[in-house]
Amino acid sequence: MSSVSAAGMAGKRVAVTGAASGIGAATAKLLQAQGCRVACLDRNLAGARATAGADGLAVEVDVADEPSVIRAFEQAGTAWQGLDALVTAAGIINTTSFFDTTVAEFRQLFDVNVIGSFLSVREGARYMQRGARICMVASISSYTGGGYVARGAYATSKGAVLTMMKGCARELGPKGIAVNAVAPGFIDTPFVASAMSDPVRRKEVVAAVGQVGTAEQIAQCAAFLVSPAADFVHGETLIADGGILMR
Ligand SMILES: NC(=O)c1ccc[n+]([C@@H]2O[C@H](COP(=O)([O-])OP(=O)(O)OC[C@H]3O[C@@H](n4cnc5c(N)ncnc54)[C@H](O)[C@@H]3O)[C@@H](O)[C@H]2O)c1
Repeated sequence: MSSVSAAGMAGKRVAVTGAASGIGAATAKLLQAQGCRVACLDRNLAGARATAGADGLAVEVDVADEPSVIRAFEQAGTAWQGLDALVTAAGIINTTSFFDTTVAEFRQLFDVNVIGSFLSVREGARYMQRGARICMVASISSYTGGGYVARGAYATSKGAVLTMMKGCARELGPKGIAVNAVAPGFIDTPFVASAMSDPVRRKEVVAAVGQVGTAEQIAQCAAFLVSPAADFVHGETLIADGGILMR
């Protein structure tokens, strides 16, 4: 895929979490096509291998597990003696309604989406130098509280990701590392398969959101935020929702 947004990325060393599927896979492939060396991190190693291909590096990781994240970034960070960019796309969703949500479900969302993002940035940044860039993947549910498929617990975890992005930007900015986020709208990936595979539900969702986006559209945004083209952007969120919040 060609990309204006990822210009200047040739030769950069990039790690992408959640790279086996959806937005992470599309981002990894886009950056590879721009000449990056991409480490594809995912709990689904076969999927990460499929994304990485012969030129990339596939690394198994459970982002919710501290030793696993430390090991994975050690592998990714030492493979090419450092990292220039990181995209944290690994995440899970839960569609349980508010009164039925259990504490275990809430904790699982936080373990993967919040602690997983925290650990990935903490460990990824250890292998970065001045000029490196990070893009965290949040969601417009951070602003809406959920609604179309996701519910409050998921939205809360993504709100925490946005706040964390600001905190990371404050702490890593003085080290010359830029941190930003992309907040996707409704994107047709396996993540929302439960809604999209049922034609009736799909029609309802499309009517509600107006536009369903593609993983490639979000990949363009993430690639821009980790590229030199965004070198004056720091601590910001790029909302890419096809206008849902304007409806
Ligand atoms: N699809 C959407 O509509 C949408 C909207 C807003 C935000 N997002 C966010 O985008 C990100 C990517 O979602 P997607 O749509 O590409 O979903 P996806 O299900 O296609 O991909 C998510 C990937 O994360 C991996 N993953 C999940 N838990 C993991 C763990 N503990 N350790 C390592 N890897 C793990 C999965 O194996 C999978 O490859 C998520 O953070 C999600 O919250 C998606």
